Amino acid sequence: MTKRGSYVLGSLLLAGTVHAQVTFNKDVAPILYGNCVACHHPNDIAPMSLMTYKDARPWAAAIREAVVTRQMPPWHADPHIGDYLNDPRLTQEQIDTIVEWVKSGAQEGDGRDLPSPPAFEKGWHIKPDLVLSIPETEVAAGNQDDYEYIYVPTNFTEDKWVQAAEVEPGDRRVVHHATVSVVSGADAAKLIATHGGAENVDEFHYRTGKVNHMKPDAPVSDDGCAKPENPAIKSYTSGDVNHVPSIYLPGHLAENRPPGYALKVAAGSYLQFQIHYSNRLGYAVKDRTRIGLVFAKEPVRFEVAQYEIWNNWFLIPPGDGNHKVTSCFTLPKDVTAIAYTAHMHFRGKSMTTEAVYPDGRREVIFSVPKYDFRWQETYFLKHQFLIPKGTRLVTTAYFDNSPNNGLNPDPGKSIRWGEPSNEEMMGFWLAYADVEPINSKETGAAAASSGGR
Ligand code: HEC
Repeated sequence: MTKRGSYVLGSLLLAGTVHAQVTFNKDVAPILYGNCVACHHPNDIAPMSLMTYKDARPWAAAIREAVVTRQMPPWHADPHIGDYLNDPRLTQEQIDTIVEWVKSGAQEGDGRDLPSPPAFEKGWHIKPDLVLSIPETEVAAGNQDDYEYIYVPTNFTEDKWVQAAEVEPGDRRVVHHATVSVVSGADAAKLIATHGGAENVDEFHYRTGKVNHMKPDAPVSDDGCAKPENPAIKSYTSGDVNHVPSIYLPGHLAENRPPGYALKVAAGSYLQFQIHYSNRLGYAVKDRTRIGLVFAKEPVRFEVAQYEIWNNWFLIPPGDGNHKVTSCFTLPKDVTAIAYTAHMHFRGKSMTTEAVYPDGRREVIFSVPKYDFRWQETYFLKHQFLIPKGTRLVTTAYFDNSPNNGLNPDPGKSIRWGEPSNEEMMGFWLAYADVEPINSKETGAAAASSGGR
């Protein structure tokens, strides 16, 4: 009724009274509930709650600053390249409303205007049908960079289709990241036997504790598109296929696949929890990281998987503020693109992926102009699209190993691939589906049996 500037006459009549008053209850709370409180509620990842007027009022100036500069809500993909389902950015009108609210004294307004606040299940941003946890795991005091591989049986007696999933760290202070992947029962047995030791380490890698590193004198190629000179290396770029229900990375929210697209977890599968523990507390703690799964409620037409495209052969010289590293991967089949993720560590600066289609056409499909290790979102496409077999995905990353990078653990070091975050990685991940719809009979049954909680 009292929308600002709706009618000139109205605003003349009401000038300085009703129309000008932007209030928390009427105007600001709906924005915070829709775009902020998923993280800004008690005991979630943000440092303060914005659920109530009392919570938000002391932060009014900081909120204004954060939305005007578009620091909040966090979003790091270039908005001009691709449209994303999970893009949380505010509209200009919403930003103006917050600015006006702060300018006019950050008033509370009439309690009757306040919409009911969203409810949160403790820890989850989804409503899981099933929660699977690792056994209680002790994280020792001095345990600074440790990758644990823990296998949890699903005990599924039939194939299940996962629409959404979220990893919830048991103790956020020590769980640096966690990646949960699906492995078959047979593979799980083999993996359990090998992950504890140095079996995965070849002539170019070494191992300390439970983490792997590239040897300082291993062959170097910042250009993952080049042909390796060393016959022991097949290609500088690798493209691993992974079936990942969910990942917990800094700043990574629950993964919701678009309707009709789901991840298959076959009967008898195990979930592999790869957990990077880093305990700087000075005392041992116990962790019980969990994954929540939401099963597909509607028929699944496409099965989702992920190409993880890496160049692991780079060398970033000490002090280099703009070091370029590329990877090139040619798609072995037609795929439908669903989501992108950029993965680097503290020195990651930007990443861009260009598709070079078989007809020679080139298109930048993804860009993160200001990468921030603390915010590793997966960007789900609003419009899934076909990338034909033979398309070359050329990814270009820049790293900042200079002292100007506030997150840089040590600008004096020359940096190679390594699992700890004070070494680097260069990964572009493409979540995709096969173009052919899957047998609807099979999934119809699975979807029906997983419905109703
Ligand atoms: C995805 C989770 C998430 C969402 C969504 C989010 N925030 Fe935040 N916010 C954080 C985290 C985590 C921090 C602390 C780390 C940082 O500053 O990056 C933060 C920091 C802030 C700060 C700075 C606090 C300080 O110490 O100065 C403000 C202000 C803020 N958020 C406001 C908002 C507003 C307003 C929205 C919605 C328009 C929003 N945030 C949406 C997670 C989130």
